[in-house]
Amino acid sequence: MNKKLNTIDSHKLCVAPMLDWTDRHCRYFHRLISSQVMLYTEMVTAPAILRGDRDKYIGFSPEENPVAIQLGGSDAKDLATCARIAEDYGYSEVNLNVGCPSDRVQKGRFGACLMKEPELVAECYEAMASAVDIPITIKSRIGVDEQDSFEAFNHFIQVVKQSGCETFIVHARNALLKGLSPKQNRHVPPLKYDYAYRLKAENPELNVVLNGGINTVADAETHWQKNDGIMVGRAFWNAPWLIRDMHDAAGMKAMSSDKDDVLQAYKHYCTEQIAQGSSLHWLIRPILGLFHGEMGNKKYKSYLVTEAPRRKDDVAVLDEARAFVTEKQTTEEMTC
Ligand SMILES: Cc1cc2nc3c(=O)[nH]c(=O)nc-3n(C[C@H](O)[C@H](O)[C@H](O)COP(=O)(O)O)c2cc1C
Repeated sequence: MNKKLNTIDSHKLCVAPMLDWTDRHCRYFHRLISSQVMLYTEMVTAPAILRGDRDKYIGFSPEENPVAIQLGGSDAKDLATCARIAEDYGYSEVNLNVGCPSDRVQKGRFGACLMKEPELVAECYEAMASAVDIPITIKSRIGVDEQDSFEAFNHFIQVVKQSGCETFIVHARNALLKGLSPKQNRHVPPLKYDYAYRLKAENPELNVVLNGGINTVADAETHWQKNDGIMVGRAFWNAPWLIRDMHDAAGMKAMSSDKDDVLQAYKHYCTEQIAQGSSLHWLIRPILGLFHGEMGNKKYKSYLVTEAPRRKDDVAVLDEARAFVTEKQTTEEMTC
């Protein structure tokens, strides 16, 4: 079995890897909101790490930890090399993508199509696990194309489990490789949470982390009863303060900072990043949803998206935008 640390608690609450969204700035911002949520990078392919501008693809701030790097690939030797590089960079975990359905990814023979090749995934897992001391985890779908039964999903898991893998993050939808875009593949195939629940019930020794369509604290509480953890993507992007609500509901270490403290800390980070060549235009993306549901939120957002591109290095834009937010909307106001 995997000699790596027990990852049950560290996966109770995770922010999903999201290409073009969960970049290092977004992760830094999320870390300000929760000291314990597990963060994931966007998927980075093995060739990009081996042959591309490595610091650009995988550089990150140590303050983001614990952060997992998500790899895309299916060449066991390359993945093992990338896992070693990631460990040297200071990542806390390596996650293998077995869920992305895009055409480009299929052509590279990785992502969701690997659900049809459990032996290859097991080989990749073994190569990575023997190369590093940090945990290796798998993020998969529950099936692909016509391979959509619980038995087929369970077969995939059992083969990979044999190689020593203990943590499976399950996006509880089938992936349809022909006819649906990646975006459609995130909402058209129905969610089947019972696959993940049954997986955990039949394999209590595994860490099973449920992903897909989790939008509220009540959803989180339901899933925590049946799985070890949850991973949330779009809901956290739209309303990042939900991370704090779930952090609190998960019983994680109490945090005293409020939204304004977080915004000020992020402003400080922006100043540092701008000095290193980043643009405010890019840096403001993760904070657009910070005041979701509050009065003035719309003006706050539109001020940021209009002013940040014009004043690329002026962090005062954040305070000016904040001034539009007045107070929390009451339920009555929200339903008007
Ligand atoms: C913009 C975007 C980019 C994504 N990129 C990745 C990715 O790089 N790797 C991955 O495993 N999943 C990726 N996903 C899928 C999410 O990690 C997650 O599995 C999916 O959105 C379902 O969770 P949710 O309903 O909480 O959003 C992406 C999703 C979105 C919306």
